Amino acid sequence: MDLAVAADLRQDRIDIAAVLDQLVGNADASAATTIGYPGAVDASHDAVLRRLGSRLWNNIGDPADGGGVAHTRVLERAVVAWTADLFAMPSTDRWGYVTSGGTEGNLAALYAAKRRYPTARVFYSRAAHYSIPKLVDVLGAHGVPVRADERGEMDYNDLAAQLRRRKRYPAIVVGTAGTTLTEAVDDTARIRDLLAEHPAGGHLHVDAALSGIPLALDGRLRLDDAAGIGSIAISGHKFLGTPVPSGVVLVRDTVRTLGQPIAYTGTVDTTISGSRCGLAAALLWHAIAVQGREGHRWRAVHARELAAYAVTQITAIGWRAWRHEHAMTVVLDTPPAEVRTKWVLATEGAVSHLICMPGITRTQIDAFVTDLAAATPRPAAPRPRTPADDSGLITTTR
Ligand SMILES: Cc1ncc(COP(=O)(O)O)c(C=O)c1O
Repeated sequence: MDLAVAADLRQDRIDIAAVLDQLVGNADASAATTIGYPGAVDASHDAVLRRLGSRLWNNIGDPADGGGVAHTRVLERAVVAWTADLFAMPSTDRWGYVTSGGTEGNLAALYAAKRRYPTARVFYSRAAHYSIPKLVDVLGAHGVPVRADERGEMDYNDLAAQLRRRKRYPAIVVGTAGTTLTEAVDDTARIRDLLAEHPAGGHLHVDAALSGIPLALDGRLRLDDAAGIGSIAISGHKFLGTPVPSGVVLVRDTVRTLGQPIAYTGTVDTTISGSRCGLAAALLWHAIAVQGREGHRWRAVHARELAAYAVTQITAIGWRAWRHEHAMTVVLDTPPAEVRTKWVLATEGAVSHLICMPGITRTQIDAFVTDLAAATPRPAAPRPRTPADDSGLITTTR
C-alpha cells in the first residue's frame, strides 16, 4: 500500500486502521536497526498512555499555577524538583518547566538571559546543535561562533580571544554537554572562569540535551553556586526515553523571565509556548519514577559499557571508531551507504555515529559489525609461509 495515497484526506473513504497499522509496521520493521539517534528504547509507557492517553491534559501557564482545565502540573512540578535536585541546584534559586524538547529549553533559557542582558553577544561552539544559531537569530541577538577541536569540544583559547574582542558587551555563552555528533562535553568550569574575567559580565547556559542526566548522575555536571551556570536544557525523549518529544529547562530564579498574569487562562505566562503538553510531563514523571536515581545510574553505566564494547568490536575488524570516555556515542568513519541506511546512522560527511542508548543490545551491535565487515571486504591477510611453500609443492588454502 502506498501510505501517502492511502492517507490522503481528500478521499471519500479512508481505511484509518490500515493507515495506522502500516505506520506502526514501518516503524517496527526498522526498530531493530535504528541505532544512530539518541532515543532510549528500554521502557514501557503503557501505564501512563492507558490511563491518560485519551484526553487533553493542558499545562498552560506556569508549573506553579493551579486550577483551570485538566492538567498534570503536580507531576510537572515533581519532575522539575527531581531534576533540579539531581543537578544540585540551590533550592532557593531555581525555576523550570517541562518543555517540548531541548530546543524549546534552549530558547526559554536564552530568552531569559537576553532579557537580562539585552545587548549581549551569544557565543557558541561550532559543534553546538544547529538550533543554537537559529535561536540566536530568533532572539535578534548577535551570535559569535567559537572554534571546536576535532573531537567536538569548544576551543577555550578561541572563546577567550572572541570575548576579549567584545569586552564592552555582556556575554551569553552556550556550553554543550554532549554535542550532537561526538557527545563532547565542554568544560563549564573553564567557561565560568573566562566569563568571570569578562568586564561586562554575562550568563552561562548549558545545552545538555542528551548527556545532562547521565553526567548529573555521575556528579560531573552540577548547577550549584560554585558552578556559575545560569541555566540548562535537557531533552526528555533522549536518555529518559519518553515516547513523545519532551524536555526540562532549569533557570536560576534570579535570572528567569517573570511572566504576565493572563486573565483569560487564569495562569501566568512564564513559558515559551502557551498550551503545553501535560501528557509529556506525566510521561517524564513516570520515566523517572519507574527507575529512580539508582535505576537511571545503572542505565547510564550499561549504555557506556555497550559503547565501549562497540568500539572494540568495530576497531577489531579494522574500521576506525572511538568514543569519549563518558559517552554512549560511538564515532566512526562513515560506512558504505547500504550499511549506513540499514542501520539509520547519523552522518556528517566522512564521520558517522551510532548511539548505544538504553535498550540497544550487544546482539544489535554484533549484527551491525557483521554487516560492516561484509560490506568492506579487506584484502585477505598474507598466509604464513610453510615448509611446503619452499618445497615446490602446490598447496591450496581453504
Ligand atoms: C546538543 C543538542 N542540543 C539540542 C538538541 C535538540 O533537542 P530536541 O530535539 O529535543 O529539540 C539536540 C538534539 O539532537 C542536541 O543533540
